[in-house]
Amino acid sequence: MILTHVVACSENRVIGAQGDIPPWNLAEDMKFFRDTTKGHIMIMGRKTFESFKGKALPNRYHIVITREPAKQKFESTEKSPVVFVSSLEEAIELAKPLTAQWGDEVFIIGGGEIYKQALDKNLTDKIYLTLVHREFHGDTYYPQIDEKVFTLTNRRDVETPIPFSFLTYIRK
Ligand SMILES: NC(=O)c1ccc[n+]([C@@H]2O[C@H](COP(=O)([O-])OP(=O)(O)OC[C@H]3O[C@@H](n4cnc5c(N)ncnc54)[C@H](OP(=O)(O)O)[C@@H]3O)[C@@H](O)[C@H]2O)c1
Repeated sequence: MILTHVVACSENRVIGAQGDIPPWNLAEDMKFFRDTTKGHIMIMGRKTFESFKGKALPNRYHIVITREPAKQKFESTEKSPVVFVSSLEEAIELAKPLTAQWGDEVFIIGGGEIYKQALDKNLTDKIYLTLVHREFHGDTYYPQIDEKVFTLTNRRDVETPIPFSFLTYIRK
């Protein structure tokens, strides 16, 4: 199993503001997220799942981390399962036997709390970081990537509608 973060942050590391992503409106990045995660397992925190506003994303297996999994209610479908677990470790254990059907690359899609725990616990093999070359206001952040631990292996710069870069980091 490969554990990969998919994240977009600003130069000042902001990823979220008031429960949503900052207003950078990058259609190409949204498409990258959709194309990358389609057909795969996505692990996320409860607040990130709530930012989907009650809709699971089609053709993805959602594993949602919450301290109160028993209290969560969501009617999931066979094409877009949604399950609740009580830790990142439990999410990974649940994902393992599902990779045969849903792909070996499992995406950690946020938010700030879950990204930080995954990095602190060395539960991250790869990072797809969309770096938006502006500063944004917000209340949720992505940690600085430790370049002693991760190597930048790919970079593609985009200039419109605002300058940003698709960066790939791989654990050394
Ligand atoms: N720009 C991006 O790429 C991107 C990606 C994803 C999200 N975001 C943004 O990030 C923000 C959300 O991030 P966030 O950091 O506030 O929240 P989050 O990481 O999405 O979710 C936090 C929740 O996860 C659960 N949780 C966290 N650690 C846990 C643990 N050790 N054990 C059990 N449960 C645990 C708790 O749920 P309970 O409270 O239910 O116990 C906690 O309240 C939003 O603004 C969202 O739009 C941005």
